[in-house]
Parts: sequence; C-alpha cells; structure tokens
Amino acid sequence: MDLIFGKNKKEQLEPLKAKVTGRIPAWLQGTLLRNGPGMHTVGESRYNHWFDGLALLHSFTIRDGEVHYRSKYLRSDTYNANIEANRIVVSEFGTMAYPDPCKNIFSKAFSYLSHTIPDFTDNCLINIMKCGDDFYATTETNYIRKIDPWTLETLQKVDYRKYVAINLATSHPHYDGAGDVLNMGTSIVDKGKTKYVIFKIPATVPEAKRKGKSPLRHTEVFCSIPSRSLLSPSYYHSFGISENYIVFLEQPFRLDILKMATAYMRGVSWASCMAFHREDKTYIHIIDQRTRKPVPTKFYTDAMVVFHHVNAYEEGDCILFDVIAYEDNSLYQLFYLANLNKDFEENCRLTSVPTLRRFAVPLHVDKNAEVGSNLIKVASTTATALKEKDDQVYCQPEALYEGLELPRINYAHNGKQYRYVFAAEVQWSPIPTKILKYDILTKSTLKWGEECCWPAEPLFVPAPGAKDEDDGIILSAIVSTDPQKAPFLLILDAKNFTELARASVAVEMHLDLHGLFIPGTDGGTRSQAPAETQAEEAADCQAASQA
Ligand SMILES: [Fe+2]
Repeated sequence: MDLIFGKNKKEQLEPLKAKVTGRIPAWLQGTLLRNGPGMHTVGESRYNHWFDGLALLHSFTIRDGEVHYRSKYLRSDTYNANIEANRIVVSEFGTMAYPDPCKNIFSKAFSYLSHTIPDFTDNCLINIMKCGDDFYATTETNYIRKIDPWTLETLQKVDYRKYVAINLATSHPHYDGAGDVLNMGTSIVDKGKTKYVIFKIPATVPEAKRKGKSPLRHTEVFCSIPSRSLLSPSYYHSFGISENYIVFLEQPFRLDILKMATAYMRGVSWASCMAFHREDKTYIHIIDQRTRKPVPTKFYTDAMVVFHHVNAYEEGDCILFDVIAYEDNSLYQLFYLANLNKDFEENCRLTSVPTLRRFAVPLHVDKNAEVGSNLIKVASTTATALKEKDDQVYCQPEALYEGLELPRINYAHNGKQYRYVFAAEVQWSPIPTKILKYDILTKSTLKWGEECCWPAEPLFVPAPGAKDEDDGIILSAIVSTDPQKAPFLLILDAKNFTELARASVAVEMHLDLHGLFIPGTDGGTRSQAPAETQAEEAADCQAASQA
C-alpha cells in the first residue's frame, strides 16, 4: 500500500509514448491534465497526511490515435524550500512544519504572533483551473500557481489576496458559457468580520480596460455571505450553481480560528483545528445571481459533510441540487498516512458511506402555508422542504445512490436539467476500485472495474456535434496495484461504458485528485513555451507585482 500512497513518484519530463490497445476515436484530440500529491517524504521528514503531499502534475496528450504521457512536480515555493532544506519546512494542512528546528519555545511563541492567519502554502495539488487562456494549479489557500499546460512548467505565483480579500478559496470553481470563472473563498476576521465571498474572474477583458494581461486583475466580488460565527467559519470544498442561483452549504464542519492561531505554538496541525458538530444544522444559502443577494428565507437541513456538489438546476418553483454527502468527517481521517499501511483494508473503513443526495429548495415560500406542510410541488423528487413556525424551512433530501465520490457530469449540463453522474465507486473503503455511470432517471448504473486497478475521477469529454447528454467518452487514469501491470489511461464509451482503448505507460503513476481536458491539437509535443509567450508572461508578472 505504501508503494501507492507513501512512495515518492519519479517525474517523467520528456513525453513518453504510451502503448495503445484498442482504438481511440479519431475525433479525440487534446490533453488530459491532472493534479495530485506525488511526494510525501523529503529527506528524513514525512508528511502526516496523504493530502499534504507535494503537487505532481501529469498529462496524457492524445493526438491521431497516439498518447504521450509526462509528469512534473509543481515548482512551488513550498517545493523549492523543502528540496533545498532536504526536509519539510513549510506547513501543510495536516502537517505543521518549523523552518528552524533548533529554535526554542520562546522563539516559537514569538513566531506565533505572525501565524494567527498563517502565510499558507502554495503547494497547489488539488485541481487545475482555466482562466481565459491561462491555466493554474490550485489548492484551498490564497495561492494559485500558473502553469504551462503543455510542458507542465511552473510559472508565476498568484496571491488571490491581491485581487479579493480572502484567506481560503475552493479548488472547484464554476465556468459560465463565456468561460468566466466563479469561485468562493473565506475572508477570516477581516475588519472584524468573517464572511464567505463569491468572486468572478472574467475570461477576457476588453482591450480598452486592459492594464495588464491577466484577467485576474479584473476580479470582482460577486456577493458576500456573513459567516454565522466570527471565529469558526464552515469548511467547504465546492458549491453549486443553477442558471439563476448559487447554492452554498454552510455545514457544521468548522475551522476553529482561535485554535488555528495557537496551532503553530502548540505544535499541532491546522487539521486538528477542524471539528464536525453533529448536533448542529447545515444551512443552505441560495444566492440570486441576478440581484447578487442571498434569498432571505432560512433553509437548513441536518448536520452533514459535503465535499463535492454534483449539479443544481431549477424546476418548477424550486431549485434541485445534488451533492455527495457524509454523515460525519471520517473521510479526511482515513487519509492519514499512518492509516494507509498494509492493514489498510481492515483499518480504513468509512463510518459513513458517501451518498448522492438530492435536495429541493422552494424559491417562493408562501407565508400562509401551513406549518409542517411540504413546500415542494415537483413530482420528480421525494425530497421535501417543510415549513416551520418561525418561517424557517427544513429540507430533507432524497437519497439517490449510495457509494460514490469524485463526481463529474457533462459540463454542458451544469446548472441545467441533467441525467447522468459519472463517479468513482466508493463503498466502505475510501479508495475507488470501479468507476460508474449513474442514471438519475432510471436509477440504474453501469460500471467499469478490473482487478488490481484503482481508477481516478472519471472525466467526460463530449463527442463533436453530440446530441445526447452521454454522447462522448470517459477518461480515467488507472493506477495498478500489481507491480507487473503498467498503469494506463482508460478510454470508455460514455453511453455503454465499454472500453474503447487503453494507453499503458511504464511509469510509477500517482493517484491523482482532479483535472481537466484541453481539447485541440495545440502544444502536445512542444517542450517549451515560445520565447514571445515567456516574454509576455514575465512582463505581466512584473505588472502584477507593481499593482
Ligand atoms: Fe475535490
């Protein structure tokens, strides 16, 4: 097990031609670009948690039926500092690190003063964000790193705080039809307030308004939602959008800021400052995108932990939104490296199975409706929203499917009515061994699995001129637990989940988290960005630093 989770992975800097079996559809041209932790030991020091590992980018470039693979560590400031010191010197969420281990408790106490809201890591290991023509490796801190999607080179470090007052941000932004980015972050005790900030980054900026090249400089605050608690904001990993609304869950899985402020001095990780309050409620915030204001009705449901929203859409007089929900926060606990040992399958059992839950929220609450009445009138769901005497509305979900994570959809249906969820199958173990297609309409599933294969998040790529929602293919990077079997890129027909092709590469591939597909034939075998692009980037970087 340590081979997969704990062993540092080697980079594959030059494109490596994969062995393709089967037939890749001729229309499938582009690059699957993904991100995840690849290094957990630096010198003699080791991260505590799998999600702390140093970001390793990898890509599969598909062109004319051939596939080339490459991988490269993100040269973040964190990576560089660790490698230079030959030990972990930058803290990650589950690992507190000290730059100078010789300093005594007094100097630690002194340092603590500057760690109330720490300068977080730029080890951007979770996802890839597209912003205009640029690509960024992302994590959940205030930093993102621009990358070259073709060479996997690390470019400038961007601090969200230059553009919007946030300390944390999600790694799961949304994109509208124009490619504008909508994301959320948390502003902690800024001017005496803690709030959740929704912000928008335009994909392009009109020439007349361009001061610098980066659209990030034109980031605008879309809406702010005050946190229910100044010193313990909710943790959230993603959010949902429908055509006219934004769905944000303020869940009782919270970060204790006071504990966080003393964590450095106490020698504990920031992860230890998170707690799930099962006696509390989950508040459902609905923001009207047209007015940029939250809907005033208080909607809530029972305590739960959600990492991934699947989709949301409007039907009749309500919003339906789908999430992968847990009864507790056991998922994070299971990924401590100490648990991911040879007894993994016995030790690492989720105490709550991730479940696809559908919620329904009424958009207009009749003040005269009877207390206890169900305000949901659409026939397509059994989810309810019960009116309470203080005009609050208690939402109870419909459980659609048990045992799935890392959901993806055909993104053309994001915010709209949809039918299919593509996901990794996760039962009691947090490690997926199959990928599945769940049909919300028929409540049926199709699955793909093979012995000794651990699939990554399945990503849907639409076929050109697609008519049906599932006209396209599924891409998933498959890690092999059998040393005799090479890892591979799996290509499935998204309609029937049959294998079209696989592209095997003789490398030690890491388990990744998230990523995206860049269609087209650009750059796949290019080894370096053209000189003029590099010059523009350098100029933009300089402009940004002067802003
Ligand atoms: Fe995620």
